[in-house]
Amino acid sequence: MDASTLSRIGLAGLAVMGQNLALNIAEKGFPISVYNRTTSKVDETLIRAQSEGPFSLTGQYSPRDFVLSIQRPRSIIILVKAGNPVDQTISALTEFMEPGDTIIDGGNEWYQNTERRIQQVSDKGILYLGMGVSGGEEGARHGPSLMPGGSFEAYKNIESVLKSVAAQVDDGPCVTYIGEGGSGNFVKMVHNGIEYGDMQLISEAYDVLKNVGGLSNSELAEIFGEWNRGELESFLIEITSDIFKVKDNLVDGDLVDKILDKTGMKGTGKWTVQQAAELSVAAPTIAASLDCRYLSGLKEERESAAEILKEAGLEEEVGSVKSGVDKKRLIDDVRKALYASKICSYAQGMNLLRAKSVEKGWDLDFGELARIWKGGCIIRAVFLDRIKKAYQRNPNLASLVVDPEFAREMVQRQAAWRRVVGLAISAGISTPGMCASLAYFDTYRRARLPANLVQAQRDLFGAHTYERTDRPGAFHTEWTKLARKSNAGAGAFS
Ligand code: 6PG
Repeated sequence: MDASTLSRIGLAGLAVMGQNLALNIAEKGFPISVYNRTTSKVDETLIRAQSEGPFSLTGQYSPRDFVLSIQRPRSIIILVKAGNPVDQTISALTEFMEPGDTIIDGGNEWYQNTERRIQQVSDKGILYLGMGVSGGEEGARHGPSLMPGGSFEAYKNIESVLKSVAAQVDDGPCVTYIGEGGSGNFVKMVHNGIEYGDMQLISEAYDVLKNVGGLSNSELAEIFGEWNRGELESFLIEITSDIFKVKDNLVDGDLVDKILDKTGMKGTGKWTVQQAAELSVAAPTIAASLDCRYLSGLKEERESAAEILKEAGLEEEVGSVKSGVDKKRLIDDVRKALYASKICSYAQGMNLLRAKSVEKGWDLDFGELARIWKGGCIIRAVFLDRIKKAYQRNPNLASLVVDPEFAREMVQRQAAWRRVVGLAISAGISTPGMCASLAYFDTYRRARLPANLVQAQRDLFGAHTYERTDRPGAFHTEWTKLARKSNAGAGAFS
């Protein structure tokens, strides 16, 4: 093939995300070759390129023709299902690739799979990037947030393409080189964990406003719309407002009320919580959002539990709590509770990233990560600019909770936050995300915790030793013997 007719880049895997990203790349003026094992998808993409373009997009029907249609050093994005399909695609393509060429996996892949593949293809001199892509189908087509990690040389080869196709915000395109190894996938995984937390917190705000505040769907649409013009401005708040506006087209009423209350998931949130545990990082808000998805899945059990507990005498308290509520104040309080809870959730996610960065030597730039999440991705929000600035002020910030600006905001909102959680608890409305965030805040900010008692218990039954507040060293005490000898406490309440 004549070098001038070769494509700048290739993309294999033409499900909707792949098609959209390919069209986005082509639209930005980079000639692209596309390939899919099921060839009808290639034709589908060509038809779309005609109708949405015309763009310089070439369809290829075999791995060989596909690879050979791309300029060297070749950069090939693959967007297939994570796991085995990625391995199969790599082996089909690398057969025709040459040293210096690059594979870029854009799926939601487990970071260790990327690290294994980096090693595997390096035998052939092939470079590799594991690139988190966020923004769903719309983002892929019009500007996603991109999180490429792996070979820096490979990143440099396609930097200009990625910068053009990514979402653009006031401080640049939503892409940056994340770091070595599987860092791009890891960062995307934590993005998704944070996404779970945000969605959970929003659903709790909805629950409280609806069931305690008595807000209708149209009022909810209005309130979320209003919130989207303030400190909570974000994609997820915006789409939530839209969701409340949609009527059902099958029966009377609003569609949101007809949706079965069972949340699905694909796994990245679970990995986030597993990694938090592995790294001894507390991520209770994200964990609560995961647990809630599990509990939501037990629909039949929950229905029968509701029956059994009603028969056992459980009375719904919502009615009495509701009657004493000032609606306007509740709305304002819930907004503040949501914002403060969100700060804690992001603090957990960022601290998880920091722990992994230290473990792996990735040298992640947290301000830059917050920046590339400002646009394109599912968690995009005005709030991320504040996070970016917090890390710019102090790159070694121990937690977002102690950034002076966030600290002030949390203190200003804590009374409202406590009122919402207290009200929800009295009404029997579970708000596990908000409660987890508040407990995280209260635990983290207290200079003294009851952990002294846990240490004493551990030392009593397992001789695990304890440290003292007033002198260094490890101590052990014969607690039981001493307690039996002393009569202290006996009859204290008599
Ligand atoms: C994104 C999303 C995307 C996907 C999630 C959904 O950033 O564009 O995170 O990757 O929608 O994986 O995850 P669950 O199915 O687990 O909710």
